[in-house]
Amino acid sequence: MSELSALLQEDRRFDPSAEFVKHAHVSDPGVYAAAAADPEGFWANFARELEWMQPWSKVLDWQPPHAQWFVGGKLNVAVNCLDRHVRTWRRNKAAFIWEGEPGDRRTLTYFDLHRQVCQFANVLKGLGVTKGDRVALYLPLIPELAIAMLACARIGAVHSVVFGGFSAESLRDRINDAQARVLVTADGGYRRGSIIPLKQMADEALKETPSIEHVVIVKRGHGDIPVHVTEGRDRWYHRLMDDASADCPPEEMDAEDMLYILYTSGTTGKPKGIVHTTAGYLLGVYATTKWVFDLKDDDVYWCTADIGWVTGHSYVVYGPLANGATVVMYEGAPDWPRKDRFWEIIERYGVTIFYTAPTAIRAFMRWGTDWPAGRNLSSLRLLGSVGEPINPEAWIWYHQHIGHERCPVVDTWWQTETGSILISPLPGVTSTKPGSATQPFPGISVKVLTQRGEDVPVGGGLLALTRPWPSMLRGIYGDPERYVQQYWSRWSNGIYFTGDGAKIDEDGYYWLLGRVDDVLNVAGHRIGTMEVESALVDHPNVAEAAVVGRVHQIKGHALCAFVTVKEGVGHSESLADELKGHVAHKIGAIARPDDIIFAADLPKTRSGKIMRRLLRDIADGKTLGDTTTLADPSVVARLKAQYEDET
Ligand code: WT7
Repeated sequence: MSELSALLQEDRRFDPSAEFVKHAHVSDPGVYAAAAADPEGFWANFARELEWMQPWSKVLDWQPPHAQWFVGGKLNVAVNCLDRHVRTWRRNKAAFIWEGEPGDRRTLTYFDLHRQVCQFANVLKGLGVTKGDRVALYLPLIPELAIAMLACARIGAVHSVVFGGFSAESLRDRINDAQARVLVTADGGYRRGSIIPLKQMADEALKETPSIEHVVIVKRGHGDIPVHVTEGRDRWYHRLMDDASADCPPEEMDAEDMLYILYTSGTTGKPKGIVHTTAGYLLGVYATTKWVFDLKDDDVYWCTADIGWVTGHSYVVYGPLANGATVVMYEGAPDWPRKDRFWEIIERYGVTIFYTAPTAIRAFMRWGTDWPAGRNLSSLRLLGSVGEPINPEAWIWYHQHIGHERCPVVDTWWQTETGSILISPLPGVTSTKPGSATQPFPGISVKVLTQRGEDVPVGGGLLALTRPWPSMLRGIYGDPERYVQQYWSRWSNGIYFTGDGAKIDEDGYYWLLGRVDDVLNVAGHRIGTMEVESALVDHPNVAEAAVVGRVHQIKGHALCAFVTVKEGVGHSESLADELKGHVAHKIGAIARPDDIIFAADLPKTRSGKIMRRLLRDIADGKTLGDTTTLADPSVVARLKAQYEDET
């Protein structure tokens, strides 16, 4: 992305308006110094805004790299997201305003949501689910997904949400890794006018998931989605809900009890089950939602992420509900049926806070300013960005054409592993620079380090987190060694390696430069190169594969796969298409390679390691650097010539 940033020299700074500052939750820059002087005290103060069943005895127990926050404290996440609002005037406040892609609409108040969560919690109990059991959720972006998550939280079950765009095999692997007992899915979902047959895909997965005892099917479709019901195993959600009591006392959870597992791609072929626990996670999302988005009771808040990703967990469900917010949820694509669907939704519900990804913003730029100009966006007061570096042009466009130069833009850096936002402006305090995520959130300690662990006060290096934070992952499910190896072993075992490159400027502002490991960020989605390579070599015609990211104007990166085929197999367009389809089938459409480049050979070091750096340079059309370590330098020259011929 640094290539994109370089296209525009942008050094304007944007200060929050006096009007914004006047009403902001935080307008005193002193919060940073206060939190830095006593981070544990800072978090403890925030934690007092949550509802506890029993107080904690110690804020932090840090045995690097293992942290326990709010030791001895007891609480329930669903109580914090629902019960405490239902006891107040918020009872009939809208919790979710949902819109389906075909245009159907539903509003659930906090009271409605509370009732349905309690009912579904009882349904789960009726199916034998108890505290600590894992429940897999494979659903479209419908309220029932949030209901099922909160129902799990209420009874202490651990949810594992699998994004509805993942394939049957991906679902199967995640269910098996977590050993889930129950799967909640739907007949299907709608996307760009077509139906995603979730239950059909789930059936495929369920052939090889011995841990699953029960399947619950939400009826999302309007009778237009065929479903095969397996007697004894599958049950309809609405039938179970009809018979379920709305009285369900919450389970008293320990601060460190597991809340959920969410799988994310890493540097190996196998996704990691990131584990988040109760108190620290809830606190992280509560505090950041309140301060970063300056969330108030009269806001209408919309984060466009799918709940299948961490952004949806933290900033569609847990963070905003813990704050008692009104949350807009939209099931479908931004360009369906027309390219102003998002702006239409903002106009219809008077959205005040809007949080989306740079990929979406770059697509809007391409579609032109007439679409947003044709809708009333005057309700907006704050804009957010997440998932990948935002290039200054996109930032400026967003600020001008969506925010009408009135709304602060918060570029928020974080990861599945961090649970909540760690680097971001505070909208009533920070003077923003387009393209920079600015400063660590109060209480968060960040450094840029060299490979060898030396501090980089100004300049580029690797982004590291130097203190534990409440919403940090507590582990990788079932793989304690990998947790230590992956995140805490690069320097010393108290320093977390993010996998990101970053630059810090003279003003101490952070500029995120993208992944430095074998993880790609395509359209804001995290994809492991090894996963795609494994899917490719799984095809009978493929001998070897190497996958790299190539700079892409909209998606940030595109997936570029270099492939060698087996003896006697020809290079053809149809094979390239077949391979793309094969990867989409094995992993999900998000991992479909954009390019397949057939190569006679892949460039390797003398020890046989594929030189991905060179492939990246070829894919980006750059002049090649040093190739002297290659076993056969002519391989690269041939490949580069061929690539330039073909593209
Ligand atoms: C990776 C984490 C954070 C939720 C969505 C993605 C990249 C995320 C930014 C940002 C630059 C960003 C990083 C990070 N990333 N936000 N504001 N600026 N890069 O979560 O799938 O766990 O991916 O996304 O590379 O490591 P994720």
